[in-house]
Amino acid sequence: MSDNHLRLGVNIDHVATVRNARGGAYPDPLRAAKLAEEAGADGITAHLREDRRHISDADIDGLMEVLSVPLNFEMAATPEMQQIALRHKPHAVCIVPEKREERTTEGGLEVAREENKLAHFIAPLRDAGCRVSIFIAADQRQIEAAHRIGAEVIELHTGAYCDFHAEGRMDDAARELEALREMSAFAHSLGLEVHAGHGLTYDTVQPVAAFPEVRELNIGHFLIGEAIFRGLTPAIKEMRRMMDEARA
Ligand code: PXP
Repeated sequence: MSDNHLRLGVNIDHVATVRNARGGAYPDPLRAAKLAEEAGADGITAHLREDRRHISDADIDGLMEVLSVPLNFEMAATPEMQQIALRHKPHAVCIVPEKREERTTEGGLEVAREENKLAHFIAPLRDAGCRVSIFIAADQRQIEAAHRIGAEVIELHTGAYCDFHAEGRMDDAARELEALREMSAFAHSLGLEVHAGHGLTYDTVQPVAAFPEVRELNIGHFLIGEAIFRGLTPAIKEMRRMMDEARA
């Protein structure tokens, strides 16, 4: 695969959201993950939340068993989640905030204030061979802190950019996009691998996909919604096509 290849991680959480709306077994997130693989996903992302509102422990067991592509396991920085990650040793672990007080004003993880704690938290995950990614705002302080604690990857939070875009606040969206562009380059200059995600759609993906430093996008909610109308495979293939077009 070329060095310019932008990886697409398909987040299947909201297949589980629909399943859990009724309890029971369908729609099955594992089936969605296998279809996503066939449609060209380079990885599958799943967030095991503390309250298990969508993905369940059994889903993670199943994903580890059936996937041919890497699993990006999103989790809060809690001892319980650390244990689960250490048991499964997924390819990647992405540390995300779940509680208000763990977030920066922009919504990513508050790394700068919790540096020591997070450095200790991620060390065993790194030792177990997981690539540790930290989900943060496009904020230089947070990026520097992520670098200092020994993360190999950061995932930049694209939610504010996407929200402004959806509200038609194009000047604000352009400002957020510029911050994402600058901070992608800054993080890359520190030697961090840069990923991005949250809220991306066909309308917002291409400017982010065009940043040369970004190596992976993680996209879920929009794709699962779009799958209702056009099917999961065509929804993912169209995202893949748009990413490749932006990258060319
Ligand atoms: N990246 C991270 C770190 C996330 O927590 C999420 C949402 O779970 C996503 C990407 C995907 O966001 P969305 O579902 O809005 O595409």
